[in-house]
Amino acid sequence: MSFSVPLWPSRSPFQRLGLPLAALAGALSVPTLLPAQATRTPTHTRSGIQLSNHSVTLRIDALRADVLRVRMYPIGHPAEDASWAVLPTSRKARISVTARPDGFCTDEVCVAVSRDLRLTISDRAGHVLQSDALPVEWGTHGFTVSKTRTDDDHFFGLGDKPGPLDRSGEAFALWNTDSFGWQESTDPIYKSIPFFLEMHNGRSIGVLLDNTYRTFFDFGRKDPSQYSFSAPAGPLDYYVLYGPEPKQVVEAYAWLTGPAPLPPLWALGYQQSRYSYTPRSQVEAIAARLRRDKIPADGIWLDIDYQDRYRPFTVNPVTFPDFPGLVRELASEQFRTVVIADLHIADAPHQGYLPYDSGIAGDEFVKEGGKNYVGAVWPGPSLFPDFTQQCTRRWFGSLYKQFVDDGVAGFWDDMNEPAVFTYPSKTMPDDVVHRIDDPEEGFSKRTATHLEIHNVYGMENSRASEEGLLALRPNLRPFVLTRATYAGGQRYAATWTGDNLSTWNHLRMTTPQLLNLGLSGFSLSGADVGGFGGSPSPDLLTKWLMLAAFQPIDRDHAAKGTRGHEPWVDGPAQEAIRRRYIDQRYRLMSYLYTAAEETSRTGIPIIRPLFLEYPHATADNHPLDDDAPGEFFFGPSILVAASPLPDDVAPYEVHLPPGVWYDYWTGARLDRREPLGSQDLELRNPTAKGEPRLAPLMVDPGLGDLPIYVRAGAIVPMQPLVQSTKDKPDGPLTLRVYAPEAGDASAAACQGDLYSDDGTTFDFRHGAYLRLHITCSVAPNGALTVHIPARKGHYRPWWTHFRIEAIGFNPAQSRAEFGGHTTALERTRLGYAVTVADRGAAQSIILE
Ligand code: NOJ
Repeated sequence: MSFSVPLWPSRSPFQRLGLPLAALAGALSVPTLLPAQATRTPTHTRSGIQLSNHSVTLRIDALRADVLRVRMYPIGHPAEDASWAVLPTSRKARISVTARPDGFCTDEVCVAVSRDLRLTISDRAGHVLQSDALPVEWGTHGFTVSKTRTDDDHFFGLGDKPGPLDRSGEAFALWNTDSFGWQESTDPIYKSIPFFLEMHNGRSIGVLLDNTYRTFFDFGRKDPSQYSFSAPAGPLDYYVLYGPEPKQVVEAYAWLTGPAPLPPLWALGYQQSRYSYTPRSQVEAIAARLRRDKIPADGIWLDIDYQDRYRPFTVNPVTFPDFPGLVRELASEQFRTVVIADLHIADAPHQGYLPYDSGIAGDEFVKEGGKNYVGAVWPGPSLFPDFTQQCTRRWFGSLYKQFVDDGVAGFWDDMNEPAVFTYPSKTMPDDVVHRIDDPEEGFSKRTATHLEIHNVYGMENSRASEEGLLALRPNLRPFVLTRATYAGGQRYAATWTGDNLSTWNHLRMTTPQLLNLGLSGFSLSGADVGGFGGSPSPDLLTKWLMLAAFQPIDRDHAAKGTRGHEPWVDGPAQEAIRRRYIDQRYRLMSYLYTAAEETSRTGIPIIRPLFLEYPHATADNHPLDDDAPGEFFFGPSILVAASPLPDDVAPYEVHLPPGVWYDYWTGARLDRREPLGSQDLELRNPTAKGEPRLAPLMVDPGLGDLPIYVRAGAIVPMQPLVQSTKDKPDGPLTLRVYAPEAGDASAAACQGDLYSDDGTTFDFRHGAYLRLHITCSVAPNGALTVHIPARKGHYRPWWTHFRIEAIGFNPAQSRAEFGGHTTALERTRLGYAVTVADRGAAQSIILE
């Protein structure tokens, strides 16, 4: 049996009567499979197909040749065409398709629908990419979409879920939850990103289930022959994104939901935080020590104790006198100040507390039983802005004015699941009412219960912050860090993984978690360095600071009552190691910034799983990451190979993708065609393309060692060390050229990108940027030519000279030729170098 009862709150007659949908569940029957053989004649539309049985309509539209939107709804009751996640322009995009009797084709994929409304999506060569294992399960308890799964399916994404990178065999619930001290098995935690990327047999697709209710994803845990996604309410509305390469899926997802924008450069520097540095003199002491000890750093973060009685948007005048003076003082030492600005507004009438007074005057808060809902958080009883209203977001954004005037650079949106201390659920009750008023996203003006809004509440909070900052200082790039968010939230804020713990296991978990966040749109993410709860041992803190130097956000943060986390706390020997790694991050800042700029155009994350760069590295097309769980790419060319078990003192295997690699630290060439391990392994383990895949390297790093490799043919920009990104580097920009494999003359064999701009404003949108795509080639006589093209953009960078440093290259004559000059090559620790002026014009430099 099935029903014609609409599931969508916006249209539901029950909701119009004021009945919560949950109340219907018991009154009506259990979910049912849609009956087979009940389909009415399909209607081919310009962009897809529409079919109905006696109760529901299935509608599929092609937005692009590689992006499909699938919706199902009770006949005559389509859900409102709206989304918090998907950009309106993408949601409304359509292309013309070619009709087939049972479906349609685009240039990339074909869709077939069976008479029981089961969907099969194939590529144009007929390889099935996704097929419904069952008809949609549909009823008053919501829906379940079940797809066929095999053990060769690999699943990634879904935001910050703890656990292995590959989510195959696991099941998850999405419900933003304040999860202090979460563990590997904790689910859900802070974020809900209902997007996953699936790889099967070397072909990738992505799925975004755009449903903001509590949703569920099962990647074969219940039944290994199926994977499924489901929701108890809300629209059945999902997008299927076709690769076939995983990078194409990530790019299509960025097209759908928007890429993370280019951050201010300082946000990529090292950040020092603690809950809480107080009073002001402690902040000053921390800043002074960072500079005295020559630990490069860009940000000092102030947690809730800088506030007056924990009230957001206030400053404690006793412990933080002359707050603007403090911000100025930090700025004079080249630090940016970042402050926490929680969303809960203290319930403090008649006390001159502006956020309360103006919020009440504007009726900005969510309701329960017709009154402002009050819940307890840090300030005690608090009110919660209704971020689903455009006008409330504007009001909230305006609250930043004083801080912006004081020169505060960044803002930290915490507790926005939203966290409420009063209940075991740690959030507000399901029946709290929001008053959606957001025509831009396609929503009609209506009320919605917290059940519908909960998972987007944090994202809309960060949106209010980002948009508010943009309104207050239109030509400065905002920086917002949010804890809770939803799909698309990368447009507004960077994120971190919440309250982790100071354990070796938590250090290990940062890698898969940040990689999956990156695949889910959140390129700019980090984990509290050193762990938030608990006190790290000296070695753990050192290893954590080392690894975090290669993660997108590098913020050292600690809970109250824990021991100090700052780089110097364990004496000079540990501090020296920690400094060395933070130094490396700053030397690689141009490379890191270039990777962040790539994200802002394409969505390709800053740190990447190996399979994103090398999807066909194994014979059976399983992701290489499954063999190498501690490894990841930092930008396009640098492979960081941290221990898969960081507290284990035994040597471990490093699995390098096919090809030649260089040791980042020594410049040693690891020609993996001359296997270091057993020959047998080489033969048994070819890649999908039949190239030999070689035995893993065995490494046994000491405390201060982190194995890092660079692929042959990479060109990596490096810069002189500075103590803050505000400092002008002194000296040339080095281009480290890692010689390509002999005989590889393809255009892609040797290349690297360089992007630069002022690091803070939007002037790059008007041409004030610099972009170079540098290439190199090796002549049959072994001479290496580096081609630097003419600059794109009119930004004048800080360097006047390039220093070309060739690694893995043996010069015959030890000289360089450029622009009619010949000069001797300089022997360096890693290879050979020559310095040439950068006149902004194209030039070729021959090293021979
Ligand atoms: C919870 C956050 O996750 C943590 O980072 C912060 O220090 C505390 N709230 C206090 O604001």
